[in-house]
Formats: sequence, structure tokens, C-alpha cells
Amino acid sequence: MVKVAVLPGDGVGPEIIQAAKVVLKKVEQVFGIELQLKEGAFGGVGYETYGVPFPEETKKLVEESQAVLLGAVGGTQWDALPRHLRPESALLALRKELGLYCNIRPVKYYEVLAEKVAWKSELLTGVDLLIFRELTGGAYFGTKGRKEKEAFDTIQYSWEEVERLVRRGFATANKRKRILHSIDKANVLESSRLWREVVNQVALEYPYVKVEHLYVDNAALQLVVNPQQFDVIITENMFGDILSDLAAAIGGSLGMLPSASLGGEINLYEPAHGSAPDLAGQNKANPIAAILSLALLLRFTCRKEEAAQAVEKATEEILGAGCATEDIASKNSRVVGTREMAELIAQRVDRNLF
Ligand code: IPM
Ligand code: MN
Repeated sequence: MVKVAVLPGDGVGPEIIQAAKVVLKKVEQVFGIELQLKEGAFGGVGYETYGVPFPEETKKLVEESQAVLLGAVGGTQWDALPRHLRPESALLALRKELGLYCNIRPVKYYEVLAEKVAWKSELLTGVDLLIFRELTGGAYFGTKGRKEKEAFDTIQYSWEEVERLVRRGFATANKRKRILHSIDKANVLESSRLWREVVNQVALEYPYVKVEHLYVDNAALQLVVNPQQFDVIITENMFGDILSDLAAAIGGSLGMLPSASLGGEINLYEPAHGSAPDLAGQNKANPIAAILSLALLLRFTCRKEEAAQAVEKATEEILGAGCATEDIASKNSRVVGTREMAELIAQRVDRNLF
């Protein structure tokens, strides 16, 4: 039995996690698997309950688990807190402490959302790409400082830190279309020049993978004007953060973007979106990113590829049938709430068997 620490967090977190649980229940029935879920306080909720965003109780729960399924953290009411008490610091600590250096964000274009995306449909047909974002280094974790009217953050990477992420990107690209885009800012940043060197070194082991180096500014432009050229993208932490939000627009909404953070013994699955406090408690949030994050958990931690695909396929079919939460609805959609979306997808997981 796979043990999962469930950390719903703040804002829409609890609702989308509840939605993922509805789908999971069906997956368990249909595929005869069982997950043991235990909930913990994390983020703003952790701070309110225990005075810290990553309470000891929750740390213990995580340590006793094989995976973490997280909702979202953050909210304006905690913005004024010192950095170590902010909800986001719990998330960063969780990623770092578990050694989750490899964050994978799959971005997929769904034809049925054509009206919702800002691009012309023909530019997006077939887009189904993976962003590999380095998650435990770079400016997020480098030395920081603040003096009155001066502040700094440092981007620092070791060869090993870059190499382990780069290797995962190559291994995946080699199994897919054998196209790999490495994104950096090597014309300006020393850390990017190291990055590029590592990529070129690892590339020698993968002669059949076509490697393209892009500067991050150009990559942002290319993702907008020609996203079909991409399949696997590898990049450092902050570039990956920014580019994955940009790429999420291809999926029609940030509410569609799941993520898996791998590299540790305990891996983390979470939507790439925030806690959307303005939507919280209204049954309006899009649960798809959370549901697809559950699919990634089934794939990478439970090693139940069939179950993972069933969830992904069910989601695609429900979208294809015109069901949509408000964020992805267009004039012909049948607008549904968070709960109904989850129930529809769960039902479909069943039907996929026949
Ligand atoms: C993400 C989020 C986080 C990040 C925040 C909440 C710290 O934006 O997962 O993309 O910047 O990594
Ligand atoms: Mn982000």
C-alpha cells in the first residue's frame, strides 16, 4: 500500500484536493489498488494552527509517506510575515529537504479549448511538451541578503546539480521525439555558461537526441510564436518557473497544469498554480491540475501506468464533451463546478475499461 501525505494547504487547495480524492477513489475501485492518505497542515493553514508553515507534525507525516500530494499555498494575509514564516517558504523547504531537484510540468493543448487560448489553433495542434525545471538550486536557494535599500539573490549551481537534471531531460527526450531544448542565458550569466557546458557534455552520450540551446528571452518568444517545435525542455529553476506559467496558457489555463517533483525517495505532486484566494470556497476552481497531478503520482510513485493513463484519458474526454470550469469555458461549454468536474472525470475512469 502506497502511503501518501496529503497537504491541501490554502485558498482553493482543499477543494481541488477533495476533487482529486474523488477521482482516486474510483481509480482504486477500478484498478484494485489502494493508497493510504493522511492529511497534514501546511502553508498558511500550518502557520495559523501551529505558528509555523511547515509544522513538525507535518514533517513527520511526510517522512512516513512515499509521496506527497499538495494543493496550493499562499494568500495575501500572510504577505507581511518574515520570509521564514510565509507559506511559500514551507513549499521551498519541502522541495529542498526531500531533494526534489527535478520538476516535470507537462503542457498539453486540448483542441476543444481552442476558443480559450490566446493563440491561433493551428499554431497549437499537437502541442504536448514537458518542461523539466531544476527545482532545488538557483536564485531560489542561493545566498540572499537585504540591507535597508539594497538587496541581492544569487544564482549558484554546481556541475552535479545541473548534470542530474540534464540527464533526466536527455533520458526522457531519448524515449520521445529525440528533440531537447535547453534554455539558459549564457550570453550574460556565468551559471548559464556552466549549464550549457554540462548539456554539451551529456549530449555526447545521446548522439540521436537533437539539442537546441535557446536564450530564455528567445525561448519565451518561441513558445508564443512556434510552440510546436518543442517536446522536452530543460532549464534552471527561475526560468522554469516563468516559462511554465507562460506555457500553461497553451493548456488554456493555469488550472490545467500539473507537476511532479522527483529526485528524492519521497516525491511531490502538486498543481503548478497558486491558491487563488479569490475563488476559494466557491466550488469554482479548476481541479484538473490537481487531478492530473494525481495521475503523475500514479505513474511515478505507484508505477501504475495504466491507471495514470486512464485518468488522463478520462480528463481529455470530459473536456472533449464540452464540460468546463469557468476558467476554461467558452460559449458552447457546459459550465460545471469543481465537484461536478471531479465526479464526471471519476465516472469516465470507469467507462474507459469498456
Ligand atoms: C510554482 C510556484 C512556486 C515557485 C511558489 C509558490 C514558491 O510559483 O510552483 O511554480 O515559484 O516555485
Ligand atoms: Mn510558478
